Amino acid sequence: MTTDTDERARQLRTALADALEASGQLRDRTWRRVFETVPRHAFVPEFWTLTADGGPEHVTATAPDWLELVYADEALATQMTDGIATSSSTAPGLMLGMLQALDVDDGHRVLEVATGTGYNAGLLAERLGSHQVVTVEVDPALARLAGTRLRGCGYTPLVIAGDGRDGHPGRAPYDRLIATCGFTTIPAPWLEQVRPGGLIVCPLGWGTVRLVVDDDRAEGHFLSTGSYFMTVRDAGTTGTAKHPGRPSVTTDRATTLELTALADDEGFRFMLSLAVPDTAFASERGDDGQVTAVELWGADGAWARAEGGTVRQAGPRMLWDAVEAAHEVYAEHGKPARDRFGVTVTAGGQLIWLDSPNKPIPQAAP
Ligand SMILES: C[S@@+](CC[C@H](N)C(=O)[O-])C[C@H]1O[C@@H](n2cnc3c(N)ncnc32)[C@H](O)[C@@H]1O
Repeated sequence: MTTDTDERARQLRTALADALEASGQLRDRTWRRVFETVPRHAFVPEFWTLTADGGPEHVTATAPDWLELVYADEALATQMTDGIATSSSTAPGLMLGMLQALDVDDGHRVLEVATGTGYNAGLLAERLGSHQVVTVEVDPALARLAGTRLRGCGYTPLVIAGDGRDGHPGRAPYDRLIATCGFTTIPAPWLEQVRPGGLIVCPLGWGTVRLVVDDDRAEGHFLSTGSYFMTVRDAGTTGTAKHPGRPSVTTDRATTLELTALADDEGFRFMLSLAVPDTAFASERGDDGQVTAVELWGADGAWARAEGGTVRQAGPRMLWDAVEAAHEVYAEHGKPARDRFGVTVTAGGQLIWLDSPNKPIPQAAP
């Protein structure tokens, strides 16, 4: 029986698909059918949106605009832990871009890392058949809930509660691997579990990388679109680095980097997410909107604060030295776009490069 909610949801899905097609994001007829079929609302009966002042607003299925919010092209936070979003349903347009980049074909076996609500696993199951899809979620309660909601929609992919960084060797090899939480390094087990010639699409820093797997390596470029995923985490944690507090002993020196230009340059912030991985970034602004201070810190205890032409640094990584080194390369190459950057991954580690693998960017990793 079709209810009013189902019918309204169907109309909203068509409207969303129309909008994504009109904006040029939806290029594939098969994915259009899939997006028009899978009911996102079945996976997000409640969520939090960001209000104009930035605070999270709780929305449930009884809210008059629930369905309209569900079928807007927005990410929806679906779990909050100590005020931090620890699970969400990714914005459909961003998801679609990643799924199209994954370049799946009938018969492909796909491993999804980060089940979350299960919506994306539902999209993959609708496209390829449930038996072709394995999805891994670190939070056992979320994995259970996603499995239930998927079954309610008629999808039965294998849902594993575990750490997606380990993949799921039991069903390997996979033709494709897609991750929907944020990484700073590509986990080595994935290289063994994706067949040669297979593809990995994974958020890396503030971008998404598309890697072609070979016998002992994976290599590829970043997609041109931005991507801001919640970071990969251990079970029972939020995945965010706690501020270490201001260290008492610091190395101080002058800096000439212009803080507002740095903080507001989306392209440079992307490069920074690769050059100083596993690092939080915060800025402070004066009444005129200009950035007066920038602070960076990592879980390894690295800390830097630039303010009034001086930088203070402490810890195992001199973060501001790395920011300046990255900025020099960024300026020298004419503010390169995301898709000029690429990654080479081997068992020995990973190299981030600009234009070609023989031009690595400077990095200060923990
Ligand atoms: C953006 S959500 C995933 C969205 C999901 N694909 C969907 O369609 O709803 C990110 C998810 O990654 C999960 N996650 C974080 N670290 C993980 C890990 N180590 N292994 C597997 N999942 C992880 C989080 O618990 C969260 O549910």
